[in-house]
Amino acid sequence: HHVDWEISAAEKGGYEHFMAKEIMEQPEAIRKTISPRIQDGRVVLDDLALTARDVAEMDKLCVIACGSSYHVGMNAKYILEKLLRKPVEVTLASEFRYCDPIVTEHTLALVISQSGETIDTLAAMREAKRLGAKVLSIVNVVGSTIARESDGVLYTWAGPEIAVATTKAYSTQLAVIYLIGLYCAQLLGSIPQDEYDGILSELQAIPDKMEEILENRSDIQYFASIYFNHPSMFFIGRNLDYAVGLEGSLKLKEISYIHSEAYAAGELKHGTISLIEPGTLVVALAGYGALFEKTMSNVVEVKSRGADVLGLTTHSRAAEMAKTADHVISVPDTHPLLLPSLEVVPMQLLAYYVALQRGCDIDKPRNLAKSVTVE
Ligand code: G6P
Repeated sequence: HHVDWEISAAEKGGYEHFMAKEIMEQPEAIRKTISPRIQDGRVVLDDLALTARDVAEMDKLCVIACGSSYHVGMNAKYILEKLLRKPVEVTLASEFRYCDPIVTEHTLALVISQSGETIDTLAAMREAKRLGAKVLSIVNVVGSTIARESDGVLYTWAGPEIAVATTKAYSTQLAVIYLIGLYCAQLLGSIPQDEYDGILSELQAIPDKMEEILENRSDIQYFASIYFNHPSMFFIGRNLDYAVGLEGSLKLKEISYIHSEAYAAGELKHGTISLIEPGTLVVALAGYGALFEKTMSNVVEVKSRGADVLGLTTHSRAAEMAKTADHVISVPDTHPLLLPSLEVVPMQLLAYYVALQRGCDIDKPRNLAKSVTVE
């Protein structure tokens, strides 16, 4: 038994859980995913077999995925629509396969899956193909079924992910979304060169900025020690902040078993605000500068109903947010489209440390599987 323990401790690289190890591996995983695909200041995805004409004729992108991969898709909608000015529909694979989707031979199906074996995602992908779409997948496991059946595959070079709750696969999937966005934007000429250069250089700076967040992880451990006993939590944000909130909420419920919901901040008033009581914890994501004031107005609304607010924003707005929020976590400033890559890290750490405080089985949460190969 003792020997088993030593082997498993070694596999965890000295960390208490695979999840902690995998959170810490993210900067390196992103470097491995992006650097081979950036040459002479531009994104090169030669293996994609997408011509300028294919991209120009594309009527829409259909993102298909489950779980956290679906949340990467939620980010992808905001990112790709902004870069390409083409419609992006994001659909849960379990819904896509039975909804009689509108797909043409000019539709690009973008399938996102860590394992490459999720049965709903595979079935939805086959349906998209049958209807004539070209299928491009973002997959972590080399040679998996989804990778083999796609017209093109972009691997996330995250390495094996053991913890059931995904972290480094999410981050590398997101990194691939930026690569696809920049690559297609260049083929289309949909963004000016200086904007392209700016986003690309910020993408290359993400791993270092992530390292800064990881070095300061004890701040988040401190917030977890304050809030781990809260029975329910809400995550609010707008635009990309909302997409990251969805993932923050999912991570928390998966591993800590705390009820949580993510809401588009502007939608609160249409129902969810009735659940805000003195002591409810609201995690307010307000990194996206253009909508900072809008989200802060929602922070004021929940504060006035007694909520405790943990704010997440960038360093440049932390002092402003701290005037209203009870506590503030900040991440380095970056190009607005790249914020999710940084903001997701404190969300992962919050879920991890809350679950740790609660004594949960972090790497193997109850009722969940790493890869769901049955319907
Ligand atoms: C399971 C895992 C999730 C994952 C989802 C989709 O539910 O527990 O972490 O996001 O499957 O998996 P995939 O391998 O297709 O990304």
